Amino acid sequence: MTLQIEQLSKSYGSNQLVLDNLSLSVNDGEFVSILGPSGSGKSTLFHLIGGLIKPDTGQIRLDGELINCKLGHVSFMPQENALLPWRTVLKNILLSQELKNKPDVGLAREWLKRTGLEDYENAYPHELSGGMKQRVSFLRSLLAPQTFMCMDEPFSALDEFTRLDMQQWLLSIWEEQRRSILFVTHNIDEALLLSDRIYIFSEKPTKIKKEIIVPFPRPRNKELLLSDEFTEWKRKIYSALEQE
Ligand SMILES: Nc1ncnc2c1ncn2[C@@H]1O[C@H](COP(=O)(O)OP(=O)(O)O)[C@@H](O)[C@H]1O
Ligand SMILES: [Mg+2]
Repeated sequence: MTLQIEQLSKSYGSNQLVLDNLSLSVNDGEFVSILGPSGSGKSTLFHLIGGLIKPDTGQIRLDGELINCKLGHVSFMPQENALLPWRTVLKNILLSQELKNKPDVGLAREWLKRTGLEDYENAYPHELSGGMKQRVSFLRSLLAPQTFMCMDEPFSALDEFTRLDMQQWLLSIWEEQRRSILFVTHNIDEALLLSDRIYIFSEKPTKIKKEIIVPFPRPRNKELLLSDEFTEWKRKIYSALEQE
């Protein structure tokens, strides 16, 4: 699936412009990150893509179809996992499918197994660690009928160790599946490790400061984080962030 965003603007109230004429795209099977300061409108952009709010101007297209203000076209993984505390792990994962009336229990169990959660199928969210909850939340978006995934800082609430684990876990699944993903983060290492391409957002009113094509070959792993090439690209991003 492809996503095209053209000249999108959004303000709150009469004089608070957040997104200023933003254009960006995600190609089929591409992992694209948005790296931006807090308050730059990243979540606002996702709410626009999800059809929850209306842009002032601009178009959002999924595989060419205009989806402004249309709900239910993308699968969404929020920052804080939105697991329902009264549902088991399995039932939480099936939730995204129930909305479309065709839960596939077999597939959900297969993924639980592949991600080391097979013994937790009947556990409730409060019995899981932070990383496990995010895994469940991720599986729920992965198994949703919508194939385009939007992930809004999914690992930012996790400790550094768990985050590293989760990043590698996501890499291995994504490299096999090649979904189109738009991923929001304020973590430079995370953006570089995971993405094919990165858009760097300015402070609001938000424009794209720079677009970076990440050259590292795949499959990638955590060794990359310690390489000279990685450090060099980090330096490039820092300098892009500092530019006015
Ligand atoms: N519903 C809203 N009403 C008014 N202002 C909002 C609303 N949602 C977000 N904002 C403002 O828009 C800006 C961008 O917010 P947000 O999209 O959450 O940024 P980010 O996700 O990049 O941190 C912030 O200044 C925030 O205060
Ligand atoms: Mg946000």
